[in-house]
Amino acid sequence: MCGIVAYTGYREAYPIVIKGLKRLEYRGYDSAGIALLNGGLNIYKKKGKVAELEKLLEEKKDELHSHTCMGHTRWATHGEPSDRNAHPHYSNSRGIAIIHNGIIENYEALKKDMQMRGHTFHSDTDSEVFIHLIEDVYENNQCSLEDAVRIALTMVVGAYAIVILSKDHPGQLIAARKGSPLVIGIGKDEFFMASDATPIIEYTNEVVYLNDFEIAIVKNNTLTIKNIEDKISTPYIQKLDLELDSIEKGGYPHFMLKEIFEQPKSITDCLRGRVKSASGHLMLGGIRQYANKLIHADRIIFVGCGTSWHAALVAEYIFEEFTRIPVEVEYASEFRYRNPIIHEGDVVIAISQSGETADTLAAIELAKAKGAIIFGVCNVVGSSIARASHEGAYLHAGPEIGVASTKAFTAQVTVLAMMAIMIAHKKGTITESRYQELLVDLEQLPSKIEKTLQLHKLVETISEEFKNARNFLYLGRGYNFPVALEGALKLKEISYIHAEGYPAAEMKHGPIALIDEEMPVVVIALQDSSYEKIVSNIQEVRARKGRIIAIVTEGEEQIRKIADFVIEVPRISEPLSPIISVIPLQLLSYYIAVMRGCNVDQPRNLAKSVTVE
Ligand code: F6R
Repeated sequence: MCGIVAYTGYREAYPIVIKGLKRLEYRGYDSAGIALLNGGLNIYKKKGKVAELEKLLEEKKDELHSHTCMGHTRWATHGEPSDRNAHPHYSNSRGIAIIHNGIIENYEALKKDMQMRGHTFHSDTDSEVFIHLIEDVYENNQCSLEDAVRIALTMVVGAYAIVILSKDHPGQLIAARKGSPLVIGIGKDEFFMASDATPIIEYTNEVVYLNDFEIAIVKNNTLTIKNIEDKISTPYIQKLDLELDSIEKGGYPHFMLKEIFEQPKSITDCLRGRVKSASGHLMLGGIRQYANKLIHADRIIFVGCGTSWHAALVAEYIFEEFTRIPVEVEYASEFRYRNPIIHEGDVVIAISQSGETADTLAAIELAKAKGAIIFGVCNVVGSSIARASHEGAYLHAGPEIGVASTKAFTAQVTVLAMMAIMIAHKKGTITESRYQELLVDLEQLPSKIEKTLQLHKLVETISEEFKNARNFLYLGRGYNFPVALEGALKLKEISYIHAEGYPAAEMKHGPIALIDEEMPVVVIALQDSSYEKIVSNIQEVRARKGRIIAIVTEGEEQIRKIADFVIEVPRISEPLSPIISVIPLQLLSYYIAVMRGCNVDQPRNLAKSVTVE
């Protein structure tokens, strides 16, 4: 949700920043801009994608020489996408500039105050207020710029990751964070700042993750970290284990397709070292000190948003079946604003691909304050949610860049299944033979996913048939009800077709009224404990002339006779079946979106990581 990138060092800064913005574009793409020191402090910005900005700057290449530059790609919150609302923003004197990711909640009051003091504003954004405030403090307190930033931070309410550039301080970058991510890359005689590590890894793998209420100052080729109380701390330098290949498209037309096809590998990586059926081994290394809290939990509360919430719904079925621990699944955005009842003995499991979703982070902070033990299930190593959790398990799915989440969902369900099976085994709520069977099933996931992906041509043909539909209904039961929700979400977000997911039996209570010969109905109808029931639901759709696309178990006969299209997926034990059945739905949404000419990796109005409320 807004991407920020900055560089200072011995190289030409603009090419590094523009390339970084392209890597960060999945975070927002409604406008982009840069600021650099080329004889003065100059800002160039443009509505639209980073490519639009680059086109604008093509003619100004000779002006862009600087060793210090910062850039921003925006996902609008306050103020429509436009040139004037694009970042960076100047201060009143135009001597300082800011790029900001987050929301300043008290910006109206601050703006009024600044206006009364003679400041003139040039945008509708909350971010511009921030830089006016910093300059106001700077001028009125006769302090250093870094102190002015620090004091201004105590006056704003909200979330931010900011970088500041000043015309009077060449080679200096000041950054700060609260609630929005910021990482600093440390090279030899050069420094990078960015919303995540993707623009940095090409140059260095040594990074420092800034914590909330910390300020980073790069000047005289030195990095200093201090907190809002002016206390200096030693930067904790981490080595990143991220390959450049993993953040590039690698020959695929879109990141989403690459990530769908990567799933045999991402699940292999997710299982690596954790499962060994031959020796009956199942271990999540990140869960140690608090393992007993999980095993003896009275209740487990899952929190997450979007696709991660769907993974939590699957986990509810798995945990209850295996561990016999009562489970609740909560939208993080609702949970955080209730006054949820948390007892001693309750455990909260937060699920988040990015590890930066603002609502999920706030939900766990609330639960923590009420005494809950928090486990994080995140993909991004070192992310805010991972760090705010007591313990957890990473997905190890590799970077997910396509805005529509695909490989993260399958890895989330895999990790959560491992967690449930591990607890159940320790608690003795599953038999030894069931445990063994499940370990074998887990190990077979990558090859079964591979086999499912071979169906892509069939799914493409089906997509052609339905690409002009205006609505879709997705139905599933039991473990595959959340898959129906996930399939509908994927279609909505990248193809803009209205789609609803329902538990198949709920159809009679309303949605069946929607069915006519125009309505495609995707039914996940595997040969599992709900099979007979879902066959009846398919009959009900057929009787109303709905067009049926059924995801079935290989060798299926009965449904083949009543469905318009069947997609046969490999047989797998029921609790793990969502990891397989979701794959044709990911492909269906992908192909339909491409056929409709939609921008699959950058769907309208969306951004990858929702770091604002
Ligand atoms: C859907 C999608 C979103 C995310 C949601 C949570 O394809 O990507 O619904 O799942 O914004 O994001 P994370 O998992 O990063 O917390």
